[in-house]
Amino acid sequence: MEPLEKEIQECENIKELERLRIEVFGKKGYFASEFTKLKTLEGDEKIAFAAKVNETKEKFTALLKTKKEFLENREATDALKKDAVDISLYGNISGVGALHPVMSTMDRVIEYFVSLNFSIEDGPLVEDDFHNFEALNLPKFHPARDMQDTFYFKDGSLLRTHTSPVQIRTMLSQKPPIRMICPGSVFRPDLDLTHTPMFHQIEGLVVDKKGAVSFANLKSILEEFLKHMFGDVAVRFRPSFFPFTEPSAEVDISCIFCHGKGCRVCKNTGWLEILGCGTVDPNVFKAVGYKNVSGYAFGLGIERFAMLLCGVPDLRSLFEGDLRLLEQFK
Ligand code: PHE
Repeated sequence: MEPLEKEIQECENIKELERLRIEVFGKKGYFASEFTKLKTLEGDEKIAFAAKVNETKEKFTALLKTKKEFLENREATDALKKDAVDISLYGNISGVGALHPVMSTMDRVIEYFVSLNFSIEDGPLVEDDFHNFEALNLPKFHPARDMQDTFYFKDGSLLRTHTSPVQIRTMLSQKPPIRMICPGSVFRPDLDLTHTPMFHQIEGLVVDKKGAVSFANLKSILEEFLKHMFGDVAVRFRPSFFPFTEPSAEVDISCIFCHGKGCRVCKNTGWLEILGCGTVDPNVFKAVGYKNVSGYAFGLGIERFAMLLCGVPDLRSLFEGDLRLLEQFK
């Protein structure tokens, strides 16, 4: 019996213990054969033997029970240890993104004009001379072309210098009345603190029956729009020149940083130049074959808005892809 007892004591797993239990208590096991022996004995000898066998039986029952409990316990602890989660480890958390200031500003402008029932139009980034210049009353060799020097391709097509060609495309493909905006990227060969070779504009165009749209409408819509974007600012219209509008104006708002007192951002003028606009030049309507209509147009640079609204001092930093900049706008 000792070897079995030793084996049980040294047993290391439950399966093995079960095998030993069968060896001890099973039908063909140790006690089965002991009880068979009992049949061959008589009298006192039988009583003594039976008592001894029972005593051994109790011993084994207890031994198996303790061992089983011990092994089950150990298995459970091992399983717990194996499944344990180290809550001090860094998680696999992916960062939350943020809209680029240019895109969020663009969205704000678009939302405003869409709420006023403007449709959103689109046009190609690679334009031809007709849509980008000619039809906008900028004939070849016109000195105003200097304002918008551009990147040309060998076949004469060019990267659009403004979103105004979309005015032409929309008027050529639709009948008046028109009430559209066009957001998109534009290109000019400039690079400094406030210029990048690619930037974004939003164009606006409203055309209706002659006399139905005036400069006064343009003024009021832009004033409301600028107050919506910048809060309680003063708005002023300054006479200016664009070949495709007549009369033309540049629009300023009172400096949002110094409230008109004069600072570095407004170059001590108290005003920030913010967009260009005007009533549509008759030559533009002629180029698209529109008759008996009047209209107004405006164009604004999104980056300029974004820099002012988000306090970004260097325009170039908007396009460097530095996450530290983006993370500030979550
Ligand atoms: N296209 C002009 C520019 O890029 C802006 C503008 C648009 C001015 C519409 C007047 C009317 O500077």
